[in-house]
Amino acid sequence: MSASLAPPHTLIIGGTAAYGLELAPYQPLPAGDPLETPYGLSPPIHFLQPDPARPPVAFCSRHGRHSLQHSAAFLNHRAIIWAAKMLGVSTILSWNGVGAIAPGLEVGELIVPHDLIDFSRSRISTFDNKDLIAATGPAFHPQPRAAILAATAAAHRQGVYVCTEGPRLETVSEIQLYHRAGADIVGMTLSPEVFLAQEVAIAYASLCYITNYATGRAGERPPRRQFGPTVAHTCLPILLQAATILSKPFVSQP
Ligand code: HPA
Repeated sequence: MSASLAPPHTLIIGGTAAYGLELAPYQPLPAGDPLETPYGLSPPIHFLQPDPARPPVAFCSRHGRHSLQHSAAFLNHRAIIWAAKMLGVSTILSWNGVGAIAPGLEVGELIVPHDLIDFSRSRISTFDNKDLIAATGPAFHPQPRAAILAATAAAHRQGVYVCTEGPRLETVSEIQLYHRAGADIVGMTLSPEVFLAQEVAIAYASLCYITNYATGRAGERPPRRQFGPTVAHTCLPILLQAATILSKPFVSQP
C-alpha cells in the first residue's frame, strides 16, 4: 500500500472463491501480498477503496490465493488474525458459508449470527496465551453486527452458529445434537477466528450465507447447494457497505 494512503480500519475476510471476484467496481489498489507473521504467511491482502473519501478496506480470503488452497479444517487462523493486527484494523467483517439446521432457514438466505458454539477439536485457539481467558462480551461484537444488519435488511437478524471440525460433513445424529444444543446454522470456519480476534481486541462480526441444508435437514425440500462465487458476489458488496457505515464518525443521539 502506498505510504500516502490512510491505513485501513476494516479487514474483510472472505470465503471460498473470494479471489475469483471481479474487484474492479470496488477500486482495487495495487497490492495483494501476503504478510509475514510469527505464525506463518497470511493469505494475500488486497486493498479496496469503494469510496475515495474514506480509508481503504483491506480484504483477503481465508482459503488462500486459489479457490480452496486451504480448506476449512486446515486454515491458519492465527496468521490471518495476526495480519489484521499488523494492519492496525479495529474491525473484521467476514463472510461464511453455512448449512441450515433450524427449520425456516432456506438455501440462499443470509443470517447474521449473534452467538457461537464451538465443536471444533484440534485447532490452535489462542496466541500463546496460557492463562484462563475470561469472556469479555458477546462472541460477535454489537457494533459491526449492527453495521452488517444496516447494510442488508434481507438477513435473518440473529442465529447461533455451531463450528465443527471437518473436513468431513456432519452425520445426521451430530446435526440433531447441535440442533438440540441451540444451533441454527453449521460451518467450519468461525472458530477460532472470532476468539483470536477478541484476544487482540479487534471487533468481529460475520455475515453467513446458507449454502445448503445441513445433513438430514432438507426434509421434503430438494437438496440444493450454492457455491463460492454466488456467495462471494452476494456478500462482498454488503460487507463493503457495512465497512463504509463503520467508517463514518459516530454521531451520538441527543
Ligand atoms: N456443514 C459444515 N460446514 C458447512 C456446511 C455444512 O453443512 N455448509 C457450509 N459449510
